[in-house]
Amino acid sequence: MNMLTVQDLRKIFGKFEAVKGVSFAVEKGESYGLLGPNGAGKSTTINMITGLFPPTSGEIHIKDIDVVKNQKQAQKWIGVVPQEIALYQSMSARENLKFWGRMYDLSGSALEKSVDQVLEIIGLSERAKDKVETFSGGMKRRVNIGAAILHKPELLIMDEPTVGIDPQSRNHILETVKRLNNEGMTIIYTSHYMEEVEYLCERIGIVDHGELIASGTLSELRETIGDHSKIILAMDKERFNPEQITESLTTFFSDKDFQIQDQQVMVFHKEPQLILTDFIQSVTKTGAKITSVDIVEPNLESVFLHLTGRNLRD
Ligand SMILES: Nc1ncnc2c1ncn2[C@@H]1O[C@H](COP(=O)(O)OP(=O)(O)OP(=O)(O)O)[C@@H](O)[C@H]1O
Ligand SMILES: [Mg+2]
Repeated sequence: MNMLTVQDLRKIFGKFEAVKGVSFAVEKGESYGLLGPNGAGKSTTINMITGLFPPTSGEIHIKDIDVVKNQKQAQKWIGVVPQEIALYQSMSARENLKFWGRMYDLSGSALEKSVDQVLEIIGLSERAKDKVETFSGGMKRRVNIGAAILHKPELLIMDEPTVGIDPQSRNHILETVKRLNNEGMTIIYTSHYMEEVEYLCERIGIVDHGELIASGTLSELRETIGDHSKIILAMDKERFNPEQITESLTTFFSDKDFQIQDQQVMVFHKEPQLILTDFIQSVTKTGAKITSVDIVEPNLESVFLHLTGRNLRD
């Protein structure tokens, strides 16, 4: 069953079309990442899904409920971590969570229990009584995430939850999201950090200029660029002879599949483990000495570059 179905979603602000006909679906239990640079339209897409504002056109279903027509019902199933942190600075972490819990109709001992569990999950039980204004950006972000999961939503939607925070909080957040997903929660996660979506998301949609320009699993997206990994041998200066190595390599590889640069010899292949031995032997039989071996898999950065001609982080 699809947890979320988005069909031909558009948003026009004045004359500017921020989202230009985006369609995708997320299955129950899946973690789906929306990856794109600043201004790509990630937040605008998310904000329509969470019901913050309606789309100019298009349809959004959460399970079988039309979100545009029947917002209240769908909102019970979702937890939202917005891009902007929204907390009461002069209240404690616990008080903030209780406030949000009441918004979700929790009260009494159910509310207390849920707040305790959430404080545990976000790793702030020890700081529960401290005012939020004394927290670091990362800790505030964790409280924000806590507020979104108090009512145990089936679908957690997070908009760039790790921007501008310390590495420790970032790791904590990534681990928490991973765990929630492993426990069955469906996740939608937007980011412009490719490492995060690579780590967290089973499927990834790449957004640029309001369009979903590619969508699929990491390996499907890699296929779009030929899915070639790179084996890099770093060479000792001593007996390094590029001409001899070139000659030796041409017995196994065509010249467009390898490259010699500075003190490095590189070969590109879909299944690097199949050619590793031949590659190393061809190089060492010239008398050259290898100081290290590295295998670099194609990543989302290279996919984005291939699709748009730009780097993700310009
Ligand atoms: N309320 C608005 N009125 C006019 N233009 C808007 C509005 N909200 C967003 N935009 C524009 O729509 C485009 C997409 O913005 P959006 O916030 O969705 O991008 P994003 O992918 O979330 O970027 P970021 O990574 O910086 O958060 C941008 O060009 C932005 O300036
Ligand atoms: Mg945004």
